[in-house]
Amino acid sequence: MFHFIFSYFAHLLKSFHLHGIHSPFVFQLEKKCLKDSTTYTDYLKLSQYRNSVNASNKTLHIEDHGAGSRVFKTNDRKVKDILRHNCSTQKDAQMLYRICNYLKVNTVLELGTSLGIATHAMATARPDAIITTVEGSPEVYEYAATALVDNGIENVNCIASTFKEFFDEYDFNEVTYDLIYIDGHHDGTATLNYFEAILDKVHNDSVVVFDDIYWSTDMTAAWNKICAHSKVTASVDCFDIGMVFFRKEQLPERFYIKL
Ligand SMILES: C[S@@+](CC[C@H](N)C(=O)[O-])C[C@H]1O[C@@H](n2cnc3c(N)ncnc32)[C@H](O)[C@@H]1O
Repeated sequence: MFHFIFSYFAHLLKSFHLHGIHSPFVFQLEKKCLKDSTTYTDYLKLSQYRNSVNASNKTLHIEDHGAGSRVFKTNDRKVKDILRHNCSTQKDAQMLYRICNYLKVNTVLELGTSLGIATHAMATARPDAIITTVEGSPEVYEYAATALVDNGIENVNCIASTFKEFFDEYDFNEVTYDLIYIDGHHDGTATLNYFEAILDKVHNDSVVVFDDIYWSTDMTAAWNKICAHSKVTASVDCFDIGMVFFRKEQLPERFYIKL
């Protein structure tokens, strides 16, 4: 908790002091996407999906392949509670929606489907894109795969697998992704391993979005290593999420944006 609070104030200071954004690309991203306050009509669909999940009375058995829960004491969890503690907030889902739209992504990989909140937002933003999403907990996978289809989402490929098995076993050598969203297994070493595994799945204009970069000192250390990686040029730290870019035309630089 101390790390989180301390990091929050450090981030506030950095976003204030380092605010002069000299990269036109990041400047436009901030202005036209991250801080775009338009109420898109699709946001209603995002709320409807969230409400349908919230109305569920189901309890799911969780197989934890990640870093464990700081909230739950048992592995049988109500859908409502998973929604409240483990899923993207409405604000986060709207931001992912805008990022997908602004960058016009056509291929997306999400590591960590949970109940499909972010998956639904990204699929709604880009109905012609293909969204691949991976979930290691079988009952959670089953719930999300069904709920997405029941809510009219047809462009999502849900995969029941641990992240490691996904990289080891799925034949996707030729595939690259425009956006990769890493939102599961909040452990520094694991996050670095997944980052290494996706490096040959990105191209010059890809973006990799990380959730919970200040979840622990370990996650923040991993985030700092990723920002310093030789393939990464710009990184954008919005505190709740971090984004890294590989654009060769961009000088390596770290940006801090307070949303
Ligand atoms: C924070 S939740 C994802 C939230 C979701 N992306 C959203 O925005 O609403 C993380 C999910 O990743 C799954 N997960 C964690 N570690 C995993 C692993 N190593 N392999 C497969 N799934 C994993 C968990 O079961 C959990 O459902």
